[in-house]
Amino acid sequence: MKIAISGKGGVGKTTLAAALAILMARQGKKVLAIDADADANLAAALGLHEAEQHKIIPVSGQVALIEERTGAKVKQYGQIFKLNPEVSDIADNYATKIGNIALLVLGAVEQGGSGCACPENVLIRALVADLILYKDDILIMDMEAGVEHLGRATAQGVDTMIIVVEPGQYSIDSAFRVIRMANEIGLKNIRLVANKVKGKDDEEFIRKAFSDHNLLGIIPYSEEIRLSDRTGNSILDNISNELMSNFENILDKITKRDK
Ligand SMILES: Nc1ncnc2c1ncn2[C@@H]1O[C@H](COP(=O)(O)OP(=O)(O)OP(=O)(O)O)[C@@H](O)[C@H]1O
Ligand SMILES: [Mg+2]
Repeated sequence: MKIAISGKGGVGKTTLAAALAILMARQGKKVLAIDADADANLAAALGLHEAEQHKIIPVSGQVALIEERTGAKVKQYGQIFKLNPEVSDIADNYATKIGNIALLVLGAVEQGGSGCACPENVLIRALVADLILYKDDILIMDMEAGVEHLGRATAQGVDTMIIVVEPGQYSIDSAFRVIRMANEIGLKNIRLVANKVKGKDDEEFIRKAFSDHNLLGIIPYSEEIRLSDRTGNSILDNISNELMSNFENILDKITKRDK
């Protein structure tokens, strides 16, 4: 199963990605978590200690690896290099282990229409496309706000796109843009999760906006979640059973659909 988590800035993508990764790892699944956000914080949400977080070198910063796999020198332009470098072992050899979860941090992918063909981007793109297409087990990718940065190859390679929405019009508008793009590239399994829901009115607002779409579940607004990034623990440490069951129900629905 290959899941990408998308949505507007700050809606709770990283929170949901971390919660699902932890729950799936607890079920004994082999989980590869990919932080595809240049402003990476999935490691923290997974509960990796701060000192360990600082040791992570994103794939885009692994100069020796990039040069070896692409055959080109980093930061030298106008070179010719392999467009499809071999990437199949990178998750095994370069991921950081957090309990049963392997975390791969991609680092910055240069944006803009120029389609920068620097070696680090070539490697990251190949990595995302190939890992997503060929790796078994669970792959869960925490995306940057919006979906454009990694483009079609990424979205096409995943089998489930979860869009996180909060009860606000901007977040809903943004979700519809993601849905449109996902439809355009033929991604069928698009699911929604409502987060930071404060009551019935919030829930109604979201249900009405997405009446034609399948809502996987609802996560209430929670001070436990809001404050969890101060503790250095994972997102699921010290949360109430009730909140835990919200995440578990979402996972249940995802896995049932996959069978
Ligand atoms: N259900 C919730 N209740 C309260 N606070 C929440 C909830 N979900 C997430 N938050 C808080 O909202 C903030 C943003 O969450 P998170 O980092 O998961 O969002 P994101 O979509 O990954 O953001 P970004 O677009 O910056 O990557 C964090 O401080 C987080 O603790
Ligand atoms: Mg995030």
